Amino acid sequence: MSSKKQPKFTTKRFLLRPFELADARDVQRFAGEWIIADTTLNIPHPYGEGLAEEWIKSQARRFEDGTLATFAVTETDPEQLVGAVGLSINPEHAVGELGYWIGLPFWGRGYATEAVQALVNYGFTELRLNRVQARHLVRNPASGRVMRKIGMSYEGTLRKSILKWDVYEDLAMYSILVQEWRAEKAGA
Ligand SMILES: CC(C)(COP(=O)(O)OP(=O)(O)OC[C@H]1O[C@@H](n2cnc3c(N)ncnc32)[C@H](O)[C@@H]1OP(=O)(O)O)[C@@H](O)C(=O)NCCC(=O)NCCS
Repeated sequence: MSSKKQPKFTTKRFLLRPFELADARDVQRFAGEWIIADTTLNIPHPYGEGLAEEWIKSQARRFEDGTLATFAVTETDPEQLVGAVGLSINPEHAVGELGYWIGLPFWGRGYATEAVQALVNYGFTELRLNRVQARHLVRNPASGRVMRKIGMSYEGTLRKSILKWDVYEDLAMYSILVQEWRAEKAGA
């Protein structure tokens, strides 16, 4: 088994760290809200007992095998989980796909933007990705706004590419390439 240890890092307002089993109650509380499941692709609803623990264990396993890097977004004073950001990695092509949610009580404070930007930086520096992409339901413009705020470009719409709550929905595709990210950092 690999002994690769997932790092922790700080942003202006957060500590980003691996999830711990002790986060399960908050994960169930926040990710279990219908409004979070409604615009994400992989969060079940209802969010049953034990699912959060299973999810947390699977994130650690997948970090070790190099296919996923998920971080708990936490305020530090006092310590409070506020959300999750993750990169699902295709190592063969050096592509990472973003996923994220912020607990409803914390929306509208720029939290997603700050945490996702930090994850993208990590993806290009530590994971040596060449491309980071993200998809959002067209009816979820707040997520598209986060993508644009961190410098991603709209690539097009994947028509009726997902079946959500028994309805086929359109997904908008965004991406940023490593050279664009470097140019943005240089100009910042
Ligand atoms: C999408 C989500 C992560 C945003 O989190 P957040 O911390 O509130 O995001 P931020 O505050 O960093 O930025 C949100 C931006 O969207 C804008 N916004 C909010 N609602 C909007 C709407 N209906 N239409 C357009 N823009 C909207 C905000 O004004 C803000 O932009 P601004 O800084 O230019 O004003 C959060 O709503 C969430 O967790 N939703 C459920 C899960 C989800 O959809 N995840 C993404 C899956 S692709």
